[in-house]
Amino acid sequence: MAPYSALTALALSASLAAGSVTIRKTGTAPTGYEVDFKYTNASANRILIGGGLQPFTDQFHTTLRSSALYDPKDYKAGDFYVRVGRVDFHHPLPSGVYSFAYLVDCDFAPRCSIDTGKLFVDPDLPPFRNTEEDQVASTFQVPFDPAFQLSTGATPADFDYGLSAPEGERGTIKTVNYTSPGSIHPAPDVHDFSIYLPAEYGTVPGKKYPLLYMSHGAGGNGADWENLGRASAILDNLIREGHIEPTVAVMPSFYNLDDSLPKFVYGDATNRAPPPTAQHVRENYVKYLFPWVESHYDVCDKPSCRAFSGLSLGGRLTYEMYVNATDMFDYYGFFSPAASAPFVDAAAVAANPGLAQKGLYVGYGLYDSVFDLARGLQNAFDGLDFEYISRVAPYGSHYWPTWQDNFWWFGVTALWKPIPFTQETGR
Ligand SMILES: *[C@@H]1O[C@H](CO)[C@@H](O)[C@H](O)[C@H]1NC(C)=O
Ligand SMILES: *[C@@H]1O[C@H](CO)[C@@H](O)[C@H](O)[C@H]1NC(C)=O
Ligand SMILES: *[C@@H]1O[C@H](CO)[C@@H](O)[C@H](O)[C@H]1NC(C)=O
Repeated sequence: MAPYSALTALALSASLAAGSVTIRKTGTAPTGYEVDFKYTNASANRILIGGGLQPFTDQFHTTLRSSALYDPKDYKAGDFYVRVGRVDFHHPLPSGVYSFAYLVDCDFAPRCSIDTGKLFVDPDLPPFRNTEEDQVASTFQVPFDPAFQLSTGATPADFDYGLSAPEGERGTIKTVNYTSPGSIHPAPDVHDFSIYLPAEYGTVPGKKYPLLYMSHGAGGNGADWENLGRASAILDNLIREGHIEPTVAVMPSFYNLDDSLPKFVYGDATNRAPPPTAQHVRENYVKYLFPWVESHYDVCDKPSCRAFSGLSLGGRLTYEMYVNATDMFDYYGFFSPAASAPFVDAAAVAANPGLAQKGLYVGYGLYDSVFDLARGLQNAFDGLDFEYISRVAPYGSHYWPTWQDNFWWFGVTALWKPIPFTQETGR
């Protein structure tokens, strides 16, 4: 009878909980858009919306160590508390990316988890995942409305590059398994990555595409860039607006590469397995990931059309690639890099002249917890008179809106552009 009761439980839970998120253009203040959240669970006492719904920083109460987050509409404590067993909540939101989950009978997001039956993604807005439960947030992007939101060069607030491209101009993104001896996830000797193939891919016989790697950060995996950062939408828009040529992007995962380190369980906030060192990851990728990608996809095999980028600890990995796999890539995108001194100096460049011949881009947020580290890297490049591209996201803290911003401007200003970069205006 076991299969029968399992089926009953499934049907029951499906009928008990229903959700939806609707983004509505209102034509009214404060932002011109409202988002409706609905989630029903008849047996719950209280449901909260947990997640990064506050996109902007209260700059007067923020330091590099802590961010005071702030809503466009005056947020009041308790606004997210709702009637018994039901969320039916309308919220004006400005342009940008938002990730959230519903917390059911549970007050504090870090204590609520899928495992305990207290955290749920929106069933109508499922995350992009590699494996079941490795992503515990639903994500949506709110459009910009110039009638209500101000966007200038100094205070950009138009993040529409994260919106889905029109049908017919969208690439595809999917999870792929590759052979990686020693891997412990998702199966012995099998590891996985996400891959974005541009809309044009496969339609031009014999064409090889430039190849961009994009790393996640601490606690993340290869599904994060798509699920939390809408990477495929940003790539589509970079390509269709002519900022980059059609490009293949690979988003690998640096946990569970082998059994020499404790197993990391994706999506489990209580699992604190330490990340592997960047050196460990680089050696593994060079041995297994890079050759596999090149032999299975129509990608270029020259450094001039290869790039490596990453956020936070993935920015640290990008730095390791730059120093120790220098000849593999001509472009490096450091997004909120958690890399620390000692950095490259004149002696390092004398020993490895390739370090001075790269397309370098360093991006971070003005309120980023790794602001000092990122500045340290820029100081090292300044000391060597390197002409790199710099991007400071004006409102940015150590979160996905900053990395969306950093990635977009990496594409617009640096990726596949002639090297060396110059100090002349980009206009
Ligand atoms: C509904 O609420 C109950 C009671 O808190 C909880 O045990 C269950 O996991 C919830 N299910 C869903 C799908 O929200
Ligand atoms: C990857 O391998 C795992 C484990 O064998 C399997 O469950 C999963 O379906 C595979 N994914 C793909 C996309 O082939
Ligand atoms: C480069 O690799 C060496 C070992 O080969 C390691 O000691 C060093 O820390 C690495 N450099 C960086 C910047 O990670």
